[in-house]
Amino acid sequence: MWKINLFLLCFHGILYIFLFFHFGAMKTCVLYFSRTGKTRCVAEAISGSTKAPALDITSCEPLVVEDYDVLIIGTPVEGFRPTKEILSFIEQMPQTKGKKAIVFCTYALWKVGTLKTLARELSKKGYSTILSVSKRGVKPDKTDFSSILDQVRRATEE
Ligand SMILES: Cc1cc2nc3c(=O)[nH]c(=O)nc-3n(C[C@H](O)[C@H](O)[C@H](O)COP(=O)(O)O)c2cc1C
Repeated sequence: MWKINLFLLCFHGILYIFLFFHFGAMKTCVLYFSRTGKTRCVAEAISGSTKAPALDITSCEPLVVEDYDVLIIGTPVEGFRPTKEILSFIEQMPQTKGKKAIVFCTYALWKVGTLKTLARELSKKGYSTILSVSKRGVKPDKTDFSSILDQVRRATEE
């Protein structure tokens, strides 16, 4: 009997160590640009739900992405595309290989190809986009983000 217990103890120990290195070590951050506060609102909700820090791109350097394995990156839609600020930030990010990204946007009426453009620019830097989410007509303090939060949580736990 003690042999079985010892085996189970070792088995679980190895399993936890594997899970820690496989999932626990994935460092994630939420990067966003927001002109009037709506995208910030979504970024902060995602940050609260995933425990990943939310970083405003106007107050951090593009090199910060080197510290993270997964980027969750968001922008408002302006002129049917991502803002020039977020595109310029991505342009200045260092090249990487095999990292993952989740893209999001907020918009009033038409997002058109905004999320595809974000994913394409990120892929040029070596990121593969695993999820794209958006929210139309955000009203800070009133809008329900639960659907976005569920999708992001599931994608980051996979
Ligand atoms: C200059 C400008 C251009 C915009 N262009 C679009 C657009 O093409 N399509 C759209 O649906 N909303 C457009 N919007 C609305 C914003 O995308 C929307 O209000 C967004 O949620 C604002 O996010 P923010 O508060 O984080 O800046 C535009 C807003 C501004 C200020």
